[in-house]
Amino acid sequence: VGEGLLAKLRAATCWEGPLAVVTDAHVGPAYAGRIPGGAVVTIAAGEEHKSLATVASVYAQLLQAGLDRSGAIVALGGGVVGDIAGFVAGTYMRGVEFIQCPTSLLAMVDASVGGKTGVDLPQGKNLVGVFKQPRAVLADLDTLGSLPLAEFSAGMAEVIKGGLIGDPALFESLEAGAVDLTAGERPPAETLRGLIKAAVDIKRLIVEEDPLEHGRRAVLNLGHTFGHAIELVSGFRIRHGEAVAMGLLAAAGLSAELGTCSPTLRPRIERALAWAGLPRRIPAEMRASEIYQAMGSDKKRAAGKWRLVLLRDVGDVFVQSDVPADAVLATLVACGAAAS
Ligand SMILES: NC(=O)c1ccc[n+]([C@@H]2O[C@H](COP(=O)([O-])OP(=O)(O)OC[C@H]3O[C@@H](n4cnc5c(N)ncnc54)[C@H](O)[C@@H]3O)[C@@H](O)[C@H]2O)c1
Ligand SMILES: [Zn+2]
Repeated sequence: VGEGLLAKLRAATCWEGPLAVVTDAHVGPAYAGRIPGGAVVTIAAGEEHKSLATVASVYAQLLQAGLDRSGAIVALGGGVVGDIAGFVAGTYMRGVEFIQCPTSLLAMVDASVGGKTGVDLPQGKNLVGVFKQPRAVLADLDTLGSLPLAEFSAGMAEVIKGGLIGDPALFESLEAGAVDLTAGERPPAETLRGLIKAAVDIKRLIVEEDPLEHGRRAVLNLGHTFGHAIELVSGFRIRHGEAVAMGLLAAAGLSAELGTCSPTLRPRIERALAWAGLPRRIPAEMRASEIYQAMGSDKKRAAGKWRLVLLRDVGDVFVQSDVPADAVLATLVACGAAAS
């Protein structure tokens, strides 16, 4: 995590071989030129392009650029670019080296770390993918200068999630307004550096223990079974981070409904989301039954049974199977979705 890292990519990653930079149309024109000596493959920006069709077009462009098995793929962009480029790096010619250069706050604090890659299918999010650990992750803070404020807010949802999972002091500081995006101002570089390091550490410790998600790693999905369903039902008009914000509230609401946490936790999460300029309600035009149905296509529904991440307290989360449907539906309605 630091400034000027893109220009130093080769030294920082000890990579002298060929490389191809995969980026999107927002990020590439501004930053791809900072990475020395590589072909550039540009994809269209946006979650709707996180698809197998985009993957196929990247393969074709890499072949055209002459990248072979001795090459490396650099992901330069937000989580969408990271997930696609990582999937390509894990599968192109049975796998080539991979370097993550996240440029959104969300990708820096979460998506670029941990080795999960993949794309969406029409049926649901992230349904095809591979684990592909990057050789290195370089979070160049200089790139955040052009990140739209709404994308900053979206990234804060994953930071708040991280605090809830494994860093009560971080959560308490966010709840108290340590990062205030409500006035439209960006956090100072020092705040960002600390925030990114703290969030990465929370995820790193869990992933190192369980890299392939056989058990404990699943807690990192807090708020995500709800969130992925909300994204899908919105036709991806709601950003991933915004949907996760709503999902965190739903997870706390459901936990309170099932008696595993205090009802005071949800308003505490609302306060943290408010400082970050994030939504605190599921839009009323979304029906609870529709979201519930979309949750069925999420991978976290193992063997036909719910496996949802619930809370006991800040810093104390666990995976629960067999959550009753009526409790899930009641929670969605309590979070703003229309009853139907
Ligand atoms: N693999 C994982 O472990 C993991 C974890 C969390 C999220 N994700 C995935 O990440 C995706 C969300 O990531 P995201 O929020 O970064 O979305 P994104 O990649 O769509 O980026 C958001 C927007 O910001 C733009 N952008 C990015 N960096 C910029 C910069 N420096 N300057 C200007 N514009 C910039 C992008 O072009 C895009 O329009 C979702 O697909 C989600 O499923 C993956
Ligand atoms: Zn996420």
